[in-house]
Order: sequence, then C-alpha cells, then structure tokens
Amino acid sequence: NEGALWGARFASGPSPELARLSKSTHFDWQLAPYDLAGSRAHARALAAAGYLSDDELGAMLAGLDTLEARVASGEVVAAESDEDVHGALEAALIGIVGPELGGKLRAGRSRNDQIATLVRLYLKDHAAVIGQQLVHLVDALASQADAHRTAVMPGRTHLQHAQPVLLAHHLLAHGWALSRDLERLLDWTKRADVSPYGGGALAGSTLGLDAASVARDLGLAAPAENSIDGTASRDVVAEFAFVAAMIGIDLSRIAEEVILWNTREFGFVTLDDGYSTGSSIMPQKKNPDIAELARGKSGRLIGNLTGLLATLKALPLAYNRDLQEDKEPVFDSVETLEVLLPAFTGMIATLEFHTDRMAELAPAGFSLATDVAEWLVKRHVPFRDAHEITGALVRYAEERGLGLDAVDDAALAAISPHLTPDVREVLTVEGSVASRDGIGGTAPTRVDEQFARLTDRVRHL
Ligand code: ARG
Repeated sequence: NEGALWGARFASGPSPELARLSKSTHFDWQLAPYDLAGSRAHARALAAAGYLSDDELGAMLAGLDTLEARVASGEVVAAESDEDVHGALEAALIGIVGPELGGKLRAGRSRNDQIATLVRLYLKDHAAVIGQQLVHLVDALASQADAHRTAVMPGRTHLQHAQPVLLAHHLLAHGWALSRDLERLLDWTKRADVSPYGGGALAGSTLGLDAASVARDLGLAAPAENSIDGTASRDVVAEFAFVAAMIGIDLSRIAEEVILWNTREFGFVTLDDGYSTGSSIMPQKKNPDIAELARGKSGRLIGNLTGLLATLKALPLAYNRDLQEDKEPVFDSVETLEVLLPAFTGMIATLEFHTDRMAELAPAGFSLATDVAEWLVKRHVPFRDAHEITGALVRYAEERGLGLDAVDDAALAAISPHLTPDVREVLTVEGSVASRDGIGGTAPTRVDEQFARLTDRVRHL
C-alpha cells in the first residue's frame, strides 16, 4: 500500500478486518485543513533547523498550498486504502512534490503529537462559532426581556405558584446561565491554547526543532511543557464536551418551560409558524419540536461527555489507540450545538408572550402571602408570628374561595389585630414586584439594572 505510513517491518499488509476497524478517515478528514496548517508550520521548523533548503521549503509550501486547494475543491479525498487523514495527506503531497521532498516532511513528528494538536485547533475554531451563537441566544432572551419590561408572571418553586416575578426577570435568569457557559468556553480556551506538536510519539524529538515557533504558527500560545502529557492527555477535549453538555442542559431547561408555556393549560406563549411543526394526522396540531429536540439532544451531549470520560479512565500513559475514540463524540457535540443553537435562538426571538394571561395568573395560588408576612415584619411583628398569621389568613381565604385582597376588615382583625386594612397596599402584583428591590430582585428598577449588566457582560467577555 503506497500511501501507508508504516509497513516495512511487516511481512504482510494489514488484514481487511483490521483495516476496516482501524480506519478513521470518515471522521478525521474534517481535520485536513488543520493537518495542512501543522505541516506548513512543521516544514518551516525543519527548514530553520537545516533539514530543508530554502528551495525545498518553497517547493514544500507551494505543494501544501496546491494540496489545500485540491482538498477544498474535493479533488483530493481520502482513498479507500487510507488509514487516516495524516497518511492520506502525506500520500497526496508526495503525489504533488514527489517522494524525495514529500518524504522529508514526516521527520520529527508523529501522528500522536499531530492529532493532539489538530483536535485543539478544530475545537478552538468551533468554540468561537458556538460562542457567537450563544451571544445571539442571550441577545434574543434579552430582547424579549426588553420588549416586556413590565409584564408579570407567576414565579414558581416546585412548579407551584410561589411569588410573582417580572417576565423579564425570568428570561434574564436563563440569559445569566448561558453567559456563564460562554465564560466557560472562553476560559477553556486558555487550557486549549497549547501545542503538543514536536512532542513526537511521546518522548520529544532529537532534531532540535523549534516547538515554540510551530505553536506560534498555529496560533497557539505555547508548546506543551511535557511531551508525554501533550500526546496522552485529552482533558481539554473532555472539558469541551462538558461545556457543550452544560449548554445543552441549560437549553433543555428553557426548552422544558417553552413546552409547558405552549400548552393550552398554560397558554403563556404562541410559537411562530416558522419555528414549530405540524402533525401528519392531526390537522390542528402545532408542536414545539425545536424545544423538544433541544431537550432530547441534551441527553446526547451528556452521553458524548460520559463516553469520553469512560474512554479516558485508567488509560496508562502515553498514547494509546483508545484515544482515537475522542473525536466522534466531541465532533458530534460540536455539530449538534451548531445546528441546534440557531434554531433555538429563532424560536426564542419569535415567541409571542400572552402577558394578559400571565398577569391574570400571577396572583393566583396566594402568591402574595410572603408580601403580607414581610409587611408584618416591617411593623415589627417577629417573622415566626408573621408566618403564622399569614398562614391563618391563607387558610381563611382558601376555605371561602376568596383572594387575600377580598378578605374583609373584620375578618382580618379577627385573624390578628396586626392585620389592619392597609395591608391591602401590598396585595397587588405590581406592588409586590416593585417592593422586591434588593440587588438581584425582581423590582423593575433592579431588572433594568441587570439587563444592562448582562448585555454588557456578554459584549465584553
Ligand atoms: N487516528 C489516531 C487518533 O485519532 C491518530 C493516529 C495515531 N495512531 C497510532 N497508531 N499511533 O488518535
């Protein structure tokens, strides 16, 4: 096999079964542009160390340019006989520059240090794409918050009505979670910004190549400090998969709410036609499939992470072929998010909120009871007593099918002399929301403040 990177010590070629098992071109071919970037940087390092003349370097770089164009146009693709992207590209390069020159490029590097570097380059590029997509989603949530600055809704704990909140407050809560995912992605980049290139198979190179210049050429901050660690570690890949899974989980929490809000029973939102689906049998149906796919795909993203961690567990140093199993899951996480995020953002951006319905339900379920208790505290009733008094008021109202504001003066006084008629001043949703004006609270003034902080944070991360 002409394109093979090894073989001389073997009496026979690989069996077809092995070749089939070992093959990775069907997924690592997408690393071809990064492999070529690595080859350029490596050729320069070889020339700087005296292993390629200026003419040879010129011919090598020109050959790599030609190869890159042919890969981009689809003229060069992996052959059936190629084991991996590295071998396929070397064979194609030799086809362009000849075996004499083409055969010099592999000196001082191994597929082990190559692949460990290429996967970082790939993930760094996609972290930037996913980061931008996350910014768009936070923007969509913030725009909806901005468009509904005063709308109120039932805030829930245990999925039960708890205290009224501003819709904007609720939407921004999801925005903050996503802003931390964005921050995680940026923080991940610090650890990803290392080049294992030049570490060889595991122990380093004898050729005196400048690993720092290779790193610089590849846009990575520094060479790996330890060639064994550089070639054998995949924590950077696992951490990326974690951030991807966390993004998926945060999307799934929004998704679940959209699905609930979109039910007839809630009636909080209507989905845009362009971002919902129909049924093949029920003509009336309009389904929240984007939200459901987000919820479902979060499981897949978690699976990619756990599969990867299981592959890494107890793996002895240094490189083992098991490590080839890092790519399909993390590529899948990247592809999943890059397809999911734009659709999800479109769904959020086009959601129509039924604020009348939300406002109508905001005070239901005695959600203003805490306001009564805190009103009593402001009149120096100990909170323990205030809690008891308010509990008795709720019970009285519930038994009679009344709202708290409909309990008459005499009944209030009978429950507790502290319950004077002016308690009704806190029995409105607007009053309740406005009074929760501590830092991070749902009062409109505070929500305006956090809106500015969140949009600013996402801009400047
Ligand atoms: N395809 C391998 C990987 O993805 C890289 C090649 C290393 N192969 C080897 N036999 N050392 O990790």
